[in-house]
Amino acid sequence: METVTQLIADDLARLESTIQKLITTKIGFIKEIVNHIIRSGGKRVRPILIMLTARLCGYKGEKHIPYAAIIEFIHTATLLHDDVVDNAQTRRGSSTANTLWGNEPSVLVGDFLFSKSFELMAHNGNEEIMRIMSEATTSLAEGEILELLKTCDIDTTEEEYFEIIKNKTASLFSAACEVGAILGRVNQTKRAALRDFGYNLGMAFQLTDDVLDYTSYDAVLGKRVGTDLKEGKVTLPLIHALVSSAEKEKDYINTVINNTKVTARDFVRVGKIIKKYGGVEYTTNATRQFIEKAKLNLQAFKPSAYKESLATLADYILGRET
Ligand code: FPP
Ligand code: MG
Repeated sequence: METVTQLIADDLARLESTIQKLITTKIGFIKEIVNHIIRSGGKRVRPILIMLTARLCGYKGEKHIPYAAIIEFIHTATLLHDDVVDNAQTRRGSSTANTLWGNEPSVLVGDFLFSKSFELMAHNGNEEIMRIMSEATTSLAEGEILELLKTCDIDTTEEEYFEIIKNKTASLFSAACEVGAILGRVNQTKRAALRDFGYNLGMAFQLTDDVLDYTSYDAVLGKRVGTDLKEGKVTLPLIHALVSSAEKEKDYINTVINNTKVTARDFVRVGKIIKKYGGVEYTTNATRQFIEKAKLNLQAFKPSAYKESLATLADYILGRET
């Protein structure tokens, strides 16, 4: 990842100052909460995607920076909301806003950031980008709602799971890459290639997220492992295990997933069932396939440092630990 951040070091520095500049509000309380989450060391993956794809497409202007800041605002708004929905206590190694200030401020500051993003986009005046970003945020909400509807449902199918993660995560990754393509004014073929690249990367990103929720450690991840099981989220490692599980194992998983008090022993036992049926390997394999597809999408572009960086970013997403 270092080669990626070195290549766009100037843009990344300007991104941070632009983020600060654009959070304009008279209400200090809003700034306090926004700064808490936005300065907490996020990976800035979505902004990096806008910046790299814009440059890949030969964009020479400056508008990719405010758009990169805006996409981070939208992402941050969804995290504020998501942590309320998931009852999450930690994120990026710190207490969540809902833990520190409560649910109401988290939801409302999320609303503020979300509205601010669209206000800023309206000022920038690119109708196509506005459409892409609006469609993506609608998908985010749909994905989160689909996920809610499938909570505690051990009969959730792979197709349903993929539909959820496509909406809740891949849609914004895909939009980020398409924004870069629009700024660079490339042809429809290249634009579609980048849209697909973002989609494949986003799918891989969420699959990794769902693996790490079973395999990582709180201190490494910066958030609590086992949250999915506790919150009744049936993700691919579990879905795959459930398909081959014996009736007794299925019943046990059903009891655990419906219980809000998942003990460490339960988590270990479910982990063992997942291991027995290769749920993690299966999911990692699916991740690898999305990453391979993403790299193929880049074939539409001639060699450049930006193309190389996007491929490096894809590899990073496959192997990421946080
Ligand atoms: C994190 O997933 C959540 C998302 C990727 C999307 C959240 C979307 C919303 C809350 C709805 C839309 C809101 C707005 C403002 C448009 P996760 O819970 O799997 O990941 P985590 O482990 O990092 O929490
Ligand atoms: Mg969550």
